[in-house]
Formats: sequence, C-alpha cells, structure tokens
Amino acid sequence: MSKVMILFGSSTGNTESIAQKLEELIAAGGHEVTLLNASEAAADNLADGYDAVLMGASAWGMEDLELQDDFAPLFDEMESMGLKGKKVAAFASGDMEYEHYCGAVPAIEEKAKGLGAEIICEGLKMEGDASSDADAVASFAQDVLKGL
Ligand SMILES: Cc1cc2nc3c(=O)[nH]c(=O)nc-3n(C[C@H](O)[C@H](O)[C@H](O)COP(=O)(O)O)c2cc1C
Repeated sequence: MSKVMILFGSSTGNTESIAQKLEELIAAGGHEVTLLNASEAAADNLADGYDAVLMGASAWGMEDLELQDDFAPLFDEMESMGLKGKKVAAFASGDMEYEHYCGAVPAIEEKAKGLGAEIICEGLKMEGDASSDADAVASFAQDVLKGL
C-alpha cells in the first residue's frame, strides 16, 4: 500500500472532479489517498510522508501559460515540497482551443523531474470534467496504479 496525495487547482470544478474520481479509483486499488485542494495547501514539505503525489491544475492564459490561481503559487514553490525520490504524475482539464492545451501537465512533469521526482506515467490531458471522458480517467488511474 502506498500513501498518495492528490493535489489539485480548479476554478470551475472540472479538474476537481477528475481529482475526486482519481481519489476513488486509486483508493479502490488499495492505497491510502489524501485529496487536497491547492486553495488550502502550502508548499513547504507538502510531500512529506507520501510515496506519490498526483498534481492537477487547469490553465487560464491566452498566449502565455497561466496556471490556475490557487495552484500557481504552489507550482512556483515546488522546490520546497520535498519531491526528490517521490513518484509523481500530472493531470489537467483544458480546452483544445487554447495554445497551451492542458499546459499544466508538461509544466508539472518537467519541474518535478528537475527536482528529482520520478514521473510514473504519461499525464492525463482531457476536456471537461471526469464524466466527459470516464475511460481516459480510468486508464490514467490504471497507469498510476501500475507505477505505485
Ligand atoms: C481566458 C481563458 C483562458 C484559458 N486558457 C487555457 C489554456 O491555456 N489551456 C487550456 O487547456 N485551457 C484553457 N482554458 C480552458 C479552461 O482551462 C478549461 O475550461 C478547464 O476545463 C477549466 O478547468 P477547472 O474547472 O478545473 O478550472 C481557458 C479558458 C479561459 C476562459
């Protein structure tokens, strides 16, 4: 059994619904899961005591990538989370109309990797909420479970 944190930033509830579904699926896989809204989190030592951290956020920029308001400060301070040696995977809800479609996914992966985290599977990029593509969410959860 692994201890898994699911940290999300969501403005209209789409990424939050994906995070909630992931919580359900990963807990059903026999792991201890903590769901944490970025609006209630601080970066300092956030990953302490966890084996894996799943991070998800939407993006709200036009030309430049702008991460969701609650998640952005945590992203900026990711180095203080203590991610070295932790398992990490990223997810996001986005809109293909925008240049940086689900831009949080590659941004999280790149930064976490640079801090010594292990990216355990390809990130989840999707439009809408968890019910818009339940198969994609389930498939991502399976990939995460394999990597734990
Ligand atoms: C002004 C504006 C900018 C946006 N920028 C992006 C973007 O850069 N990339 C993207 O994938 N989606 C973008 N979106 C779409 C939202 O991220 C998308 O609706 C997402 O599902 C919201 O997720 P949330 O409810 O978890 O915050 C943008 C939407 C608006 C209105």
